[in-house]
Amino acid sequence: MQPFEVPDAETADGKIYVRRCSLCHALPDPARMTYTQWVGVVGRMAQNIRSQNVPQVSDEEFQQILLYLKRHAKPAEIAH
Ligand code: HEC
Repeated sequence: MQPFEVPDAETADGKIYVRRCSLCHALPDPARMTYTQWVGVVGRMAQNIRSQNVPQVSDEEFQQILLYLKRHAKPAEIAH
């Protein structure tokens, strides 16, 4: 994975993203995919988290993580 600078790492939702999403693997770069793709991945991560003995993430935190990813995701491709 390419090194990257975590955007907005000092904001409330940035901190939640770093804390919750670097537990089982390296923190992914938010710019790695589009928001639509993130929604699918985060849904899958919710299942991964529920099935593991790790600190559980509340629905509110997932909402904040999604808002954070929305701000920093790769721009959606323009449809032709
Ligand atoms: C309980 C451990 C765990 C936590 C916490 C976790 N992940 Fe994952 N993640 C996994 C596992 C296991 C995989 C590989 C299997 C898979 O893709 O579901 C993975 C894979 C990924 C991938 C690569 C999948 C792809 O399709 O490219 C991304 C991106 C990702 N996680 C993002 C996140 C984000 C964002 C969070 C925070 C909401 C998060 N992960 C939190 C376990 C976790």
